[in-house]
Amino acid sequence: MPKSIVVLISGSGSNLQAIMDSIDSGRINGRISAVISNKDGVFGLERARNAGIATEVLDHKQFDSRKQFDAAMAELIDSYAADLVVLAGFMRILTPEFVRHFQGRMLNIHPSLLPKYKGLHTHQRALEAGDSQHGCTVHFVTEELDGGPLLVQGAVSIDPDDTEESLQQKVHKVEHQIYPLAVEWLCADRAKWTSEGVILDDSNLGERGFQYQQN
Ligand code: GAR
Repeated sequence: MPKSIVVLISGSGSNLQAIMDSIDSGRINGRISAVISNKDGVFGLERARNAGIATEVLDHKQFDSRKQFDAAMAELIDSYAADLVVLAGFMRILTPEFVRHFQGRMLNIHPSLLPKYKGLHTHQRALEAGDSQHGCTVHFVTEELDGGPLLVQGAVSIDPDDTEESLQQKVHKVEHQIYPLAVEWLCADRAKWTSEGVILDDSNLGERGFQYQQN
């Protein structure tokens, strides 16, 4: 039976689009039951509506506390019987209660080669550090911000003439490859997070996760 996926966004939703495209092509055995945004008017909501996917806006500013907002969001996600929760540019810090509720079935994508550059401004930080490589990571979400076990990583090279913008574009391109792949694995029950670590098929992926090579 196709898995029920709920995608959380705060912005343009290009990763959401990549996952929608991968479902359409038959690669992912799942369906997006809902797209939830904490901001109204963002382009990701339009992408979902255009594809006939249910959308919800839950504005964090309407809640007195983070805890109350997260509790309402968990209830909303549960109403779609989510097997998998996909954070795709969802720019909110989550409460421990929320994270625990979805632990093992919630993924995030982060624009760096974790554990490097948790938090914001990752492209700028990689450039300033003079790194020769940068990239993106899909990981299981834990209570530690950008700190959960790694599932898949894709690297890009940093060229001397790269700017923050050109680097962001390069990384985005890889994000759109590795996020659908990670969702495909979870929907096919090929990948899971166990007490031994992250397993893909019968292999333990180790601390860095699967190292994706761009084709
Ligand atoms: C992506 O680059 C994603 O890695 C980043 O937000 C962007 C969303 O783009 N996420 C984070 O920084 C989370 N810490 P999108 O809305 O076009 O998918």
